[in-house]
This record gives sequence, C-alpha cells and structure tokens, in this order.
Amino acid sequence: MKPQIVTVSTTQHNYPIVIGRGLIAVADTYLLANGALRRVCILCDEALVDRYLEPLKNVLQNAGAEICCMIVPSGEKSKSIEYVHKVTEKFLEFGIERQDRLICLGGGVIGDLGGLCASLLLRGIPYIQIPTTLLAQVDSSVGGKTGINSLSGKNLIGSFYQPELVLSDLQMLDSLPHREFMAGYAEIVKYGVIGDEAFFTYLENNIEGLKKRDDTILAYVIEQSCRHKATIVSQDVHEKNIRALLNLGHSFGHAIEAICGYSNHILHGEAVALGMVLAARYSKRKELCQSCDVHRIETHLQQAGFDIELHTYKKYIKDAAQIIQFMQKDKKNKTGRMRLILLKSIGKSFMYDDVDVEDVHTFLQEQLTNTI
Ligand code: GLY
Repeated sequence: MKPQIVTVSTTQHNYPIVIGRGLIAVADTYLLANGALRRVCILCDEALVDRYLEPLKNVLQNAGAEICCMIVPSGEKSKSIEYVHKVTEKFLEFGIERQDRLICLGGGVIGDLGGLCASLLLRGIPYIQIPTTLLAQVDSSVGGKTGINSLSGKNLIGSFYQPELVLSDLQMLDSLPHREFMAGYAEIVKYGVIGDEAFFTYLENNIEGLKKRDDTILAYVIEQSCRHKATIVSQDVHEKNIRALLNLGHSFGHAIEAICGYSNHILHGEAVALGMVLAARYSKRKELCQSCDVHRIETHLQQAGFDIELHTYKKYIKDAAQIIQFMQKDKKNKTGRMRLILLKSIGKSFMYDDVDVEDVHTFLQEQLTNTI
C-alpha cells in the first residue's frame, strides 16, 4: 500500500501527515527529507520500548544519527510539570540544539507532553509525532495542541505548537487491545457527525470491516479523519472559532472522564462517544435536530460497541450538578458562559452559546435516572 499524505497548512508552517504501513522501518528517509538526522531526542512511553523504540533507534542510528532517549511511565500522570522538568533537563543535558529534533513516540500523553517540551526547549525546537494509537493518529498528533494537566483540570497548561511531520504507521495499531482501538474510533465517527454525512454513511456501511481492522478501510478512515482535521485546523489554528467544533461530545465527555478519575472506568474515546450521544439528544431536546439523526448516531455507536447511556456510570457520578461543575471549567466557555457543540443534523454541527445551564442540569438528571 502506497503511503498517503495529508498536508496541514498553518500560520506557523505546513507539514505532512504520512499514513501507511511499515513507516518506522524507513523513518530515516522521512527525517532526512526534512534535513533532520544529526541528533535526535526520542520521548517514549515505557510500554513501547521493546516493540517500537528499539527498532526506531536502530533505523536512525544506522542512518548515522546520535540518539538520546527519555522513557516515561504510561498514563496521564506523566502529563505533569514534574515530567516537563525531567524531559527538558534530560534533553538539555544531552546538549540539544535548535536544529536537532524531538520525536514523540507514543499515544496522546506522549504527543501532548513531548510537543509542549519541544515548544519550550531553547524557545522551540522542531518535533515529529509518531502516534502509536488510533486516537493519536486521527486526533491528538494533528493540529499542534500540546499540554499537561493542572490541579484545576485536564490540558489546562499548554501551547499551540505544530509538529514538522507526523508518521502514522498502521502497523502500530496491530497490537492495540480492542477496547483501546475502538475508543480511538469514536474520534473518527466525530468527523462524520461534525461535518460530513457521506463519511458517516461510509462508517455505517463499513463498521464490521473496521472492527476487524481491515487495512484498506482503516487507511481510508484515518486519511479522511486527518483531512477533516487539517481543513479545520488550517482555518483556525488557535481555536478562536470553528476549531471548537472538534470538541463535539467533549464538554459532556471530559466532565464524565474527570469524575471517573481518568481511569479505566471510561477511556477518553468512550467518554467522547457518550458525550456525542448526549450532545445529539440535547440538540433534539432543544428542537435543533430530528430524532432520526439522534437514532442513527446511537445505533452506529452501539454497533461499534460503545455504552451510550449515562446511567451506566451512575455509581461514579454523585449527581447532575457534579457534571455541570466540571462542564463550567471547559476551555470552550466564553466570558463565563457555557458553550456547547450541538447538531442541526448529521454533518451539520454548530457552536451553541445560548446555553441555559438549568436546562442542561435537568436534561442530565433525566439521563442519569432514565434506565429504560
Ligand atoms: N482535539 C481537538 C483539537 O485538536 O482541536
């Protein structure tokens, strides 16, 4: 399969996302094309050392690069000031210079942490994303959002800092556990719901092949997702406007994830899937969209295996007010007012600023108690 290339155009620079199988084995050629093979710092998730770090290191060393690796624990706890300190000190001690590269080898945690460190080191060094999860390949590695968590919430400390290259190797998805793979799929469905009904229909027709990780279908949906994201990011890098649409399902989803303690009770993608259903149902409640659209979203996400009922998580959630409390900290909110991404139909989403918090509270209370 020939690698596909999607270009992201931004005010900082344009960069390619390369999507294909076996890219790690030829990573040196992509780095060389960017003139970036002298010294390379690699930030890697501890769970990926044997499987991916060693092969990547070998390829780059054989091509003559001097390598410095920093391995960090898997999970959100690495997205902290403490790890920003450890990573930057390690690479400074190595003697990193502005023309050297930092590679983020891992999922969203590594990409977010590494991107932030790259933006800070020497006031900014170029970095390359090699995302190893489906979620990172279709969302977090694209668009230059970097960040760590604060005591006040997730991703509240960060920067917009674009990578110079994204290498999305399908081979890396082969070993992903089913649950994690499908959690990433929620972000793919999101692109259809936000702005492309035809893509949503394609997903409805190909869900069984996707679950089996058919290479052709997978490459196509990753490419389409990256194209959708690139189009939106190119128009609004700093999320002053339409980039906020990419947060469909995230206002509800982030709140539920936070209440569940960012644990295995609900993965990020699962929270996004549930959040999308809640956004669709709330759109229907406000008579903004029709029941048939809500029904299609619910049916598809259920077919993909997602739990789409809020009351499933009732044992972790105190009440609707607790969800509202987290939603009020959302970065999308403007001048203290809650902003939601809602739907007119599948493929037509919009920013809804006129949110009646009391009404959202009543809606959530109903969703929590409705066990039909
Ligand atoms: N994950 C949403 C964005 O990158 O804007």
